[in-house]
Amino acid sequence: MPEENNTLSRQETPANPGVSFSVLSPSSENIQLLSNCLRNGEIVAVPTETVYGLAANALDPAACERIFEAKGRPHADPLIVHVSSIEQAKDLAHFNEKAELLAAAFWPGALTLILPKKSCVPDIVTASLNTVAIRLPGHPAFRKLIEACQIPLAAPSANPFGYVSPTSVEHVTNSLGDRIHWILDGGPCEIGIESTIIDLSNQENIRILRPGGISPEAIGEVLSINPASLSLDRHLITPSATGGLIAPGLLERHYSPNTLIQLHPHGTCFAEHSNNPTHAYVSFKKQATLSDNCFSLSDDGSTKQAASRLFEMLRSLDHQPWSRIHIEKAPDTDIGIAINDRLQRAASR
Ligand code: TXA
Ligand code: MG
Repeated sequence: MPEENNTLSRQETPANPGVSFSVLSPSSENIQLLSNCLRNGEIVAVPTETVYGLAANALDPAACERIFEAKGRPHADPLIVHVSSIEQAKDLAHFNEKAELLAAAFWPGALTLILPKKSCVPDIVTASLNTVAIRLPGHPAFRKLIEACQIPLAAPSANPFGYVSPTSVEHVTNSLGDRIHWILDGGPCEIGIESTIIDLSNQENIRILRPGGISPEAIGEVLSINPASLSLDRHLITPSATGGLIAPGLLERHYSPNTLIQLHPHGTCFAEHSNNPTHAYVSFKKQATLSDNCFSLSDDGSTKQAASRLFEMLRSLDHQPWSRIHIEKAPDTDIGIAINDRLQRAASR
């Protein structure tokens, strides 16, 4: 193993002496090394433009099982399969006209398509559903890795089940460092919030199952349909609406820090209310005050910047001794919709 030159760090985790992980830069040698690991059935934490993922060979049920073990994820929660080309996606799923349009418009990128699956996709990946979730990611290092493997990679977010998704290598090592051996370092995630998931398996009833990096407006424009008709409000998340499945990513409580979260409407000014010194106050846009229990998700009100900082903010405040975290919601536009979705779930008890 070319450890001396290519391994950026290798350490034993205090929680689990004897288990060590390696953080590798995306050099050609390291991509080759990790692609061999993946082809041999190992799991690897990988960077994507949305959040870090925990990848395994999607066509190898035993390898996928290791993802569920490491995350403590229930098997009823299916995985997203990541590909490096549309041709590879078509080996796994039956595309329809709308899927072609969306893939052409948004791939590579933060959009996951739910489509009828082909028989080569193992049941463990899809929780035995007859559909599969597919995404062609934009992060160059992850794409290179999938290309080098020549196999599709199943990858959920690289966090213990139910906790906040990771947007940096540090987040991955903090929460899964004692359970995994390999991490590909692709820097901080640019978007910082998971992909939009759209269910195209029934063309008469197209639904956004999870808001994310691509807005309903952008999708509506490409499909020439009213974005409101795609919205979750019209399609209650019930087992019948999700084909018998309540996906944990769609559950009321998810992405949850341990500290209690209290949400406030967009436009709330914390200046007059941030007086409990044991509470943290997170405004959407930087506010004038500020005492050292005040934080902000964006400098100037950009929803994009707020999305990229959201999970880092939740994780870092969760590691401090605040008894409660107050957060002002984002405006309900673009990726602000996804921010508010994650905040709502993080605040649910
Ligand atoms: O941005 C992302 O999507 C990240 C990166 C790593 O690609 N991945 C991610 O995966 O967020 P995960 O496993 O944390 O969330 C995937 C969601 C889950 O809620 C799962 O239930 C849902 O996708 N899902 C997967 N396959 C599905 C299917 N066939 N039908 C309905 N929902 C599905
Ligand atoms: Mg997740």
